[in-house]
Amino acid sequence: MSDKIFIFDTTLRDGEQSPGCSMNLNEKLALARQLEKLGVDVIEAGFPIASEGDFEAVKTLAEELTEVVVCGLARTGPGDVSRAAEALAPAKRPRIHTFIATSDIHLEHKLRMSRDQVLEEVGRAVSQARGYADDVEFSAEDATRSDRAFLAEVFSVALEAGASTLNVPDTVGYTTPTEYADLIAYLKGAVLGSENAVFSVHCHDDLGLGVANSLAAVGAGARQIECTVNGIGERAGNASLEEIVMTLQTRPGVYGDVETGIRTTEIYPSSRLLSSVTGVQVQPNKAIVGDNAFAHEAGIHQDGVLKATITYEIMTPASIGRSSNELVLGKHSGRHAFRDRLEELGISLEGESFERAFVRFKALADAKKVIYNEDLEAIANDMMISVEERFELLDLVIQSGTGMSPEATVSLSVDGEKKATQASGVGPVDAIFKAIADVTQTGSDLIRYQVHAVTAGLDAQGEVTVTIEEEGRRVIGNGVHEDVMVASGRAYVHAINKLEWHKSRHQEEEPKGI
Ligand code: KIV
Ligand code: ZN
Repeated sequence: MSDKIFIFDTTLRDGEQSPGCSMNLNEKLALARQLEKLGVDVIEAGFPIASEGDFEAVKTLAEELTEVVVCGLARTGPGDVSRAAEALAPAKRPRIHTFIATSDIHLEHKLRMSRDQVLEEVGRAVSQARGYADDVEFSAEDATRSDRAFLAEVFSVALEAGASTLNVPDTVGYTTPTEYADLIAYLKGAVLGSENAVFSVHCHDDLGLGVANSLAAVGAGARQIECTVNGIGERAGNASLEEIVMTLQTRPGVYGDVETGIRTTEIYPSSRLLSSVTGVQVQPNKAIVGDNAFAHEAGIHQDGVLKATITYEIMTPASIGRSSNELVLGKHSGRHAFRDRLEELGISLEGESFERAFVRFKALADAKKVIYNEDLEAIANDMMISVEERFELLDLVIQSGTGMSPEATVSLSVDGEKKATQASGVGPVDAIFKAIADVTQTGSDLIRYQVHAVTAGLDAQGEVTVTIEEEGRRVIGNGVHEDVMVASGRAYVHAINKLEWHKSRHQEEEPKGI
């Protein structure tokens, strides 16, 4: 029997710490549902003490998810651990994940604690956590720059106090595959009672080695990998889930007789949903999920692939759930066909979300001859991630052309009341944004504006991503429409709604992060 590799997804916690990747409750819930479909074993839902928003997110996921283990992060302080326990109270399968740094660098400069104090803190925090949950994970932050003998001592204390998963983070992305594998092998030998523990790895990608390090650790006996979809995370990101899973699947046996429980056909839908939620598209040449990951450009490659795909393809797009660009539906398709097609794509929308998606689909089918699976995914993702809306874009009219200054007339619903205005700008997008800013009275600055074609073709839908910032809070909004100007207006309004949502919920918060 193969050994199971537990996939611990931290997209919603460490991933969310990427600049501009903060997510609201609805977005976290939509992603968590998709992660459950993907088959991850553990979802780290947030860091409950960090903010009311994080607390709410962990609590809501704990209430809603029934199959997967739901995990909350806590430093070792008693208040952190009890707050995590409170958020996880409704969970069917709760895990408390507590951590403290163990490197002398962190002890001296950040914690100002002695090694003995750290040992005491670890024992106390893990015992406290065990009072609330049977499943407790302990992480030694900056493990890879810690003294090995001390690290083994820390893990022995954690195990003795009741932790069952021992995580060895490469917090600053400093280690290398052979060094990391050696560390895991050392710890398995040196930690007292290690045969009762699951060793876990958590790699950051500062040197581009996050995935390689994680896999090398599996070869040395690690059995849990912490990773994120699209590799998002602090600084250069975390080890990417899709790269780890597809390596283990494509090269069976290379890292031992191991397997994950991941449904690989859900990898691409998960990646797309995350990009829609965060507005951060993966680079085109990103392994597995990038636009070009399966595109063969060179003639000699195309020739080979046409003769036999095995010549240049080590895995198929279908194995990660990438649909071929076939025509799926047309303007005569009804609700039934639309729902069936969404289900085939693994998307479930119910009630109002389904009805709104159907209206959007019909409008798109009128405007666009060919509708691809990606179009449907873009519409559905847009529906799944909408926030409670103070503002709604009702109408948008643009006048622009050579020799005139573009003018936008917009009307919005503001807390249910219709308001309209006009503005001119340097370009049409500038005019739209000025008019919307006027109606919403937003004080935010525009940081970035991006357009991405959802599919090929001149009639492709445009997916617009807008990043705005107010008082240090940065949010991303997106909008999808066959008319890029409408997509732009929607994206801007979406971003402003998110800012409003954050403002109303995070007023009294401490800054988040580790
Ligand atoms: O990178 C890190 O050390 C972490 C820990 C909290 C696990 O994210
Ligand atoms: Zn981390």
